[in-house]
Amino acid sequence: MASLLVTGGAGFIGSNFVAHWTATHPEDRVTVLDLLTYAGNRANLDGMRAELVVGDIRDEALVAELVDSRDVDTLVHFAAESHVDRSIVGPDAFIETNVLGTHALLKVARKKWAGTGRPHRFHHVSTDEVYGTLGPNDPAFSEETPYAPNSPYSASKAASDHLVRAYHHTYGLHTTTSNCSNNYGPFHFPEKLIPLFIINALHGRNLPIYGDGMQVRDWLHVEDHCRGIAAVLKHGRVGETYNIGGGAELPNIRVIDTLCAAVDSAFAANPALAQRFPDAPAAKGLPTSTLKTFVADRPGHDRRYAIDCRKAMTELGYSPKHSFESGFAQTLGWYLDHESWWRGILDGSYLEWVETNYGNRQTAA
Ligand code: NAD
Ligand code: DAU
Repeated sequence: MASLLVTGGAGFIGSNFVAHWTATHPEDRVTVLDLLTYAGNRANLDGMRAELVVGDIRDEALVAELVDSRDVDTLVHFAAESHVDRSIVGPDAFIETNVLGTHALLKVARKKWAGTGRPHRFHHVSTDEVYGTLGPNDPAFSEETPYAPNSPYSASKAASDHLVRAYHHTYGLHTTTSNCSNNYGPFHFPEKLIPLFIINALHGRNLPIYGDGMQVRDWLHVEDHCRGIAAVLKHGRVGETYNIGGGAELPNIRVIDTLCAAVDSAFAANPALAQRFPDAPAAKGLPTSTLKTFVADRPGHDRRYAIDCRKAMTELGYSPKHSFESGFAQTLGWYLDHESWWRGILDGSYLEWVETNYGNRQTAA
């Protein structure tokens, strides 16, 4: 039996990981450490066999106490500030949580585990954004691609990746790191492209497309990501990094067109949706695509990400199961079936924050 400490386990990917791990490893103990920032949500863990401890990863005494009292041997580190737009308007929190927070965890892990002979693992969840941006014909990011982060968010994640590497190299801590592409799926916080646009479409609000909408992302269903992390935990070599991708490179405009068409089809198939969401164009017989609005670009916007995950495929037996089409259909169905989940978020101070901080990017370019 293993005892896992999952940081950021009340966020989007962390909570999907807890669901995956508790379902596939019912004998293991799972403790979640999460500060419940604007992005964390107790409800994401409803019904799961995991203990939630509300606290800060920077609180070394708390982390040390949890490692001792829960006899933790595996730390899976998701906690972070994760939204690029927020890092542009306020980078400090990203340095605090992503750099100093990761370092605080590493210090405790070193003290408790390094050189003790006790089996342990520190797994760090990172991003493909640390590799920077690709031209249209460049090969996809591999684990050997040099780091070239372009936003305060990706720079803070790159710094944390380097610290994890250094703690392995210098102190012998048993670390692994995974760098993945854009996740989507259930419990995705509605500031990110896909959930924001689904909810805007249901309310007849504009779909603000940054720049020309031709930026490319490699979409990874969150369940595939969680299976990839589990494979690294089980079969990954200590000190190594693994790229995890979805094999679904798409320009934003294709994602948005897929989303608009899927919302139209959902309304056509289910007349009750027009009653629930009367402001949606689809409720009035208009195409959702009428909401598409080109707005000023994100400063420093990376043009293209693409992941080469052959190392994870050959060494770990990883491969994504979801196509973008099947994964997106499941995701839209989840948002239509879980209105109370996202209503709870929209009713808080979130929309006010969006308006104050990047309302300017909601206007036409
Ligand atoms: P998220 O923003 O949905 O969740 C982050 C969680 O961390 C929240 O529950 C929040 O409360 C918690 N948290 C923040 N600061 C904390 C602190 N100081 N102490 C304890 N908990 C804290 O993020 P996500 O999208 O689930 O991303 C999880 C991880 O995966 C992050 O490290 C992110 O960089 C990485 N990642 C995300 C994506 C993606 O597409 N979402 C892609 C690649 C990598
Ligand atoms: O690549 C992995 C990264 O993916 C993760 O490390 C980040 O944590 C995660 O947030 C995500 O970053 P992106 O910036 O790619 O995701 P986002 O959903 O914010 O944007 C996806 C694309 O859509 C990007 O090119 C910007 C664009 N976009 C986004 C929003 C919110 C728009 O055109 N309009 C929008 O309103």
